[in-house]
Amino acid sequence: MVKQHICDRCGQIFKQKGHLTNHLNRKTPCKPVENSIVEEKVKEKIQEMIKNGEIEIKDKPRPMKFIDLFCGIGGFHQALSSFGAECNLACDIDKKCREVYENNYKIKPHSDVRKIIPDNIDDMDIICGGFPCQAFSNAGNKKTFSDDRGLLFDEIMKIAINKKPKFMFLENVKHILKVGNGEVIKYIKEKLEKYEYILQLFEMSPHNYGIPQQRERIYFVCVRKDIYNGTKIQLPISTKKVIFENYLDKKEDIDKKYFIDGDILKCLEAWDEMIKIFDVGEKISPTIMINEHYNNHSEEEFNNYAKWRKEYITKNKPLILKYKDKWDKWYKKHREILQKREIYGKLEWQVGPIKPNDSIFNYFIQPRQSGIRVKKAQYFPTLVAIVQVPIYGKEKRYITPRECARLQSFPENFIMDEDDKKAYKQFGNAVNVDNVKTVIKATLDHYKINPKEYVN
Ligand SMILES: C[S@@+](CC[C@H](N)C(=O)[O-])C[C@H]1O[C@@H](n2cnc3c(N)ncnc32)[C@H](O)[C@@H]1O
Repeated sequence: MVKQHICDRCGQIFKQKGHLTNHLNRKTPCKPVENSIVEEKVKEKIQEMIKNGEIEIKDKPRPMKFIDLFCGIGGFHQALSSFGAECNLACDIDKKCREVYENNYKIKPHSDVRKIIPDNIDDMDIICGGFPCQAFSNAGNKKTFSDDRGLLFDEIMKIAINKKPKFMFLENVKHILKVGNGEVIKYIKEKLEKYEYILQLFEMSPHNYGIPQQRERIYFVCVRKDIYNGTKIQLPISTKKVIFENYLDKKEDIDKKYFIDGDILKCLEAWDEMIKIFDVGEKISPTIMINEHYNNHSEEEFNNYAKWRKEYITKNKPLILKYKDKWDKWYKKHREILQKREIYGKLEWQVGPIKPNDSIFNYFIQPRQSGIRVKKAQYFPTLVAIVQVPIYGKEKRYITPRECARLQSFPENFIMDEDDKKAYKQFGNAVNVDNVKTVIKATLDHYKINPKEYVN
């Protein structure tokens, strides 16, 4: 019979004595027999207690993970990463947005949300996204649901159904509440309900939080039902004052290209001359369509005009008659520039009755399809993706992309698209970072969650 060598401590059997010697000389000594039995028993007991819910094993704290759908230039990313959450994935169909995103956050976004296969992506705690609203912009239009883009909300849900994130933060224009006679919002609510999310809507605008831009938007906060604590999230009330000047570049630092010249300057100077002729208290409304007045239409032509056009011409008459000689002289002098582009002949004076020493250059001026719109300089006009860059009248210049970045609460070190037109469009499309931060912080505080050290 072969001799066996047994370890007195753990009971292990060796065929050769040398093996036993090596075993006994191990750096980490073997465990005594009784200890392993006790350990086994303890493990079994712990498993039993976990099963009965008597104890709970928590994961190690970790940063929350989010995915940034329809990421644009990352308004949501700015907000969530400032709280310590980490981005897992981003996605935008616009190549230029993707480039700006990668430059700033070192993440290469996917190019089409419709091509994302949920099973192939990592899990996340949060989905955020300002889903496109173009398809929703036509009230009562039946295309609302047949337009491909109208269904992009469903792409968010496709991922949510599979991954069941704890929270979703979504954003859209206010109009979404009304489109299709309310069918769109009803659809969204039903879908969230069906897949076990509790929805709370917030309407907010940067100007309510000390930022000089009026931009009403709807934020959707969706909380997974098993996490929902049955109480409503409250947004803080801001007491921050708007300090308009904080958002302006220093005039001496602004590139020459932003200052207006040529036709647009000529046109505004022409209108300014007329503004100075009006009596204090004069009301300049509705839109003055001066070329329509001087186009020598016959009575028959006038009768064939569209109703709205006839109405404007008729409503403009009293103001034109009151200052007739001055209008005539003025129009003769500036006819060429006023007729050069249709919008040059239309003035939308939205700043109330004429004030002492009034001037078009005291305000913001927005050249729009509907005319030269003049707005109070207390708030910057709402940034929109369609490039109608506002002119800051006082300095006779367009607002700069960096000023747009500030109005959208992006940090000073944000790397913008080098092409100004693209940068204006991207900021016009973005969410206001400060507003998103307010919504997300209120939600996470409400659930006592620190996104930097999240414990499952
Ligand atoms: C309202 S913007 C969102 C902007 C973003 N929240 C930000 O802060 O910049 C909507 C974005 O959706 C993108 N988009 C439209 N269709 C898409 C698709 N099929 N897949 C991914 N992105 C899409 C657009 O290019 C646009 O940038």
